[in-house]
Amino acid sequence: ISLHSLITLMPGILLGDVLPNFEAETTIGKIKFHEFLGNSWGILFSHPRDFTPVCTTELARAAKLHEEFKKRDVKMIALSIDSVEDHRKWSEDIMSFNQDKACCAMPFPIIADDKRELSVLLGMLDPDERDKDGMPLTARCVFVVGPDKRLKLSILYPATTGRNFDEILRVIDSLQLTATKKVATPVDWKPGQEVMVIPSLSDEEANKLFPAGFTLKEVPSGKKYIRYTKP
Ligand code: BEZ
Repeated sequence: ISLHSLITLMPGILLGDVLPNFEAETTIGKIKFHEFLGNSWGILFSHPRDFTPVCTTELARAAKLHEEFKKRDVKMIALSIDSVEDHRKWSEDIMSFNQDKACCAMPFPIIADDKRELSVLLGMLDPDERDKDGMPLTARCVFVVGPDKRLKLSILYPATTGRNFDEILRVIDSLQLTATKKVATPVDWKPGQEVMVIPSLSDEEANKLFPAGFTLKEVPSGKKYIRYTKP
């Protein structure tokens, strides 16, 4: 079966799926994904190729933000379809891009998926983005995994659009809040702001759960469904 048929057949990983406990070669040696995560949250993000400009800016930003991920107990791991040797050389470019002399080693590993096996397994390849040999490149996938190893969020970007890591931290804050409280975060929400009571909760239940109660936003339909509360 051709790589192209595999890509079109693979559904990839869907929300709620347990990510496979794959083995991979990385810049910190061989890992098994579940053991690497332990009981933490995880973020696995893919890159089209080593030594490419947008990827370098993204990894430099991710490296700069690694303390923010650590504060949230999120283990970071990147993937690109080149070798460990290339990843190690590229890491020097990435860290020098930050001009951060205090921190010269990459603070998280990069998976070497030079055979594209993992990219196929996880549905990461973009059939529209090819290298000079016509082989598909990995898209910019973001998979956030909970401590139960299940996929909590996925975002896919094409190779030509770099990600926003502030947004990724923002959605992790939302995921971690809504994992334990019966709330949902509205548009453009930031930590500290009001949240929404989830629709499945009755007013009585909401009053019991949220000591500060909730406020209702009146709307023309007269339906009482927009309820704000403090998390
Ligand atoms: C980049 O990272 O700059 C890039 C990689 C593949 C296609 C386009 C851009």
